[in-house]
Amino acid sequence: MQIKRELIFVCTGSDCKKSGAKNLCKELKNATNTVPLKGQIKLIKTKCMDMCKSAPLVIVKGYYCKKASSLKVLELLKKP
Ligand code: FES
Repeated sequence: MQIKRELIFVCTGSDCKKSGAKNLCKELKNATNTVPLKGQIKLIKTKCMDMCKSAPLVIVKGYYCKKASSLKVLELLKKP
């Protein structure tokens, strides 16, 4: 799997935090520190992005990942 350097924006506003954003950040950090992704991903925590009904919210590769899970985010990373 070849992935060029990507940014992942994780909302850590209050609603997203209540919906597991903190845990999601930990999972993504662990997943992106493993071999095929190591050094390719930068995780950026953001303030509320005003889409709280979709919490936890992540933006990756220009996609809004609503009710995000680490699995959903990693799948989006594989998209060309
Ligand atoms: S708290 Fe995450 S979008 Fe509002």
